[in-house]
Amino acid sequence: TDAELVRSVDLIREVPDFPEPGVLFRDIGPMLSDSTALRAITAALGRDLEFDVVAGVEARGFLLGAAVAQHFGTGVIGLRKPGKLPAVADSISYELEYGHATLELPADTLAAGQRVLVVDDVLATGGTLGAACHLIAQAGAEVTAAAVVMELTGLRGRDNVSGTEIRTLLKA
Ligand code: PRP
Ligand code: HPA
Repeated sequence: TDAELVRSVDLIREVPDFPEPGVLFRDIGPMLSDSTALRAITAALGRDLEFDVVAGVEARGFLLGAAVAQHFGTGVIGLRKPGKLPAVADSISYELEYGHATLELPADTLAAGQRVLVVDDVLATGGTLGAACHLIAQAGAEVTAAAVVMELTGLRGRDNVSGTEIRTLLKA
C-alpha cells in the first residue's frame, strides 16, 4: 500500500559526511532489514513492468535485484565491479565525478532479446545506471526500465540514462 511505501522510505537513514566530508549519504540498510519495508519496496520497483530477468548493480543493487526477481518470478544477473568474475561477457567503463569505474556482465547469463529490469538503490550522477543500460543494450538485450529506490535530483543523473524509463520511488 501507499502507506507502507511511505513508511518504508522513511527508514532510509541520512549520514552526513560519508564517504567524504560534505556528502550526505543515504543508507538503505535499515529499510532492507525491515521485512514489511523490503516487501513493499520490492513490489513497487517492478510493478506493472514487463521483464524476463533483473540486473542488479553491485553492491546494494544485488540485494534489491534478487528480491525483485524472486517477487516477480524471474532470474537475476549481478553486474559487477572489475576483477570479480571468472568469465566476462562484456565490460564498460564510465566516468565518475573523480576518476572512472567499470562494470562487467557475467558470461552466459543474458540472452539477446531478453527484456531486462535494471535495479539499484540510488541514482546520483547516473554514471552507474547509464553504464549498466549500455552494457545490456550491447549484449542485444532490451532494457525495459531502470528502477531505483532513491533519486538525488540535484545531480541530474537522469540526463546520463537517456532513452530509458527510470522509476524512482523517492526523490530528494
Ligand atoms: C553507489 C550506488 C549506485 C551508484 C550511484 O554505489 O549504490 O550504484 O553509487 O552513483 P552514480 O549515479 O553517481 O553512478 P557505490 O559506488 O557506492 O558501490 P557499492 O554499492 O559497491 O558500495
Ligand atoms: N547512497 C548510496 N549510494 C550513493 C549515494 C548515497 O547517498 N550517493 C551516491 N551513491
